[in-house]
Amino acid sequence: MTVLSTHGLVARYGDFQALYGVDIDVAEGEAVALIGANGAGKSTFLRSIMGLMAVKPEMVRLDGQPIGGTPTDRMVQKGVAIVPEGRRLFTGMSVDDNLRVAMDQADRLGRTGGWSLERLHRLFPILKEKARTEVQNLSGGQQQMVSIGRALLSQPRVLLCDEISLGLAPKVIREIYAALPEIRAQGTAIIVVEQDVGLAQSASDRIFCLLEGRVTLTGASSAITREQIAGAYFGGSHAVV
Ligand SMILES: Nc1ncnc2c1ncn2[C@@H]1O[C@H](COP(=O)(O)OP(=O)(O)O)[C@@H](O)[C@H]1O
Ligand SMILES: [Mg+2]
Repeated sequence: MTVLSTHGLVARYGDFQALYGVDIDVAEGEAVALIGANGAGKSTFLRSIMGLMAVKPEMVRLDGQPIGGTPTDRMVQKGVAIVPEGRRLFTGMSVDDNLRVAMDQADRLGRTGGWSLERLHRLFPILKEKARTEVQNLSGGQQQMVSIGRALLSQPRVLLCDEISLGLAPKVIREIYAALPEIRAQGTAIIVVEQDVGLAQSASDRIFCLLEGRVTLTGASSAITREQIAGAYFGGSHAVV
């Protein structure tokens, strides 16, 4: 069943229109990938869901209810969490303390669910080893794990991930993406924004391609061809490598 959907979503930065009527949906336990070149509007799309852009209520629906423009805290309370571009951790604080802030916030917002510090440690064992390390001293991959862990501790029904592979080594990317099936297994819906097309395809059930604020391709990840993606990605006949 559809958990989150957008309907003719438009978003602007002042005079500049970044999204032109975007329709995307994700079901319980499903992973969809949102791909597209730099500047296509992927982060803006996620920001629109999280209440960070001025959008009309009916443009974003959770369980069919219009919730567009709901403030970020309230979205987290309703079960939508984001792993933001650039991770945004609390520097000068340990891994554990970063995660405890997230747990306190979840408590305050009344979110309950299956994610605990212990379970996160099973998902990403390095977070237990580095529990007392200040986050700025972690590798990029380890920081990303903290950022994902923080989002999971809000017990999301929908998890939004903004380019979680950016700047990481292939081995680390595999480790991080290997966590997605377990996250989905309990019904969490996932939207991953990803620039790596192959990775997006292998990690998702369906793909949406954005080009200059419009969806140019939608389909089952297993059925979409490289040629279709190339056309949708660039609006021309470039190859995808
Ligand atoms: N704060 C902002 N002010 C004005 N324009 C912005 C702002 N953030 C993004 N944009 C513009 O909106 C478009 C979409 O950006 P973004 O959603 O960040 O793309 P993506 O995440 O796909 O790289 C781009 O043209 C970008 O320059
Ligand atoms: Mg972006």
